[in-house]
Amino acid sequence: METLIEQLKVILGTNFALYLKSHGYHWNIEGSNFPQYHDFLNGFYNEVFLQTDSIAEHIRALNSYAPGSLSRMLELADIQEATSILDAMEMMRDLASDNDRFIIHLRAGIVAAEGANEPAVGNFLQDILDAHQKKGWMLRSIVK
Ligand SMILES: [Fe+2]
Repeated sequence: METLIEQLKVILGTNFALYLKSHGYHWNIEGSNFPQYHDFLNGFYNEVFLQTDSIAEHIRALNSYAPGSLSRMLELADIQEATSILDAMEMMRDLASDNDRFIIHLRAGIVAAEGANEPAVGNFLQDILDAHQKKGWMLRSIVK
């Protein structure tokens, strides 16, 4: 159970970092395809942010406390913060790479849920995994 809880915390921190980065890219992206990029990123960050509360509440349901500070989120996150303004393709490549890292942790969470005999948590993570595999396809198609 501890393995599952720790993995859910990494998933939460990574989710939160991915949310903030994609929202920042929504604000700052530039280029001739600005309207499409801006809208795509709007959908991306909204969907990622909708996951945040449910991930944290699953941690609470497993009788652990959810991290609630920016410093702890950053410590848990397995993606780097955006600290400079990139060009549009670099932003999309960066998000594609971060999305792949998020997928790795979702898969690890599903394995940990199986190990802890928590199929409902596994199903919850599978739905997020499915959504992010689709996002991976879209991001790879944008940067090709
Ligand atoms: Fe906006």
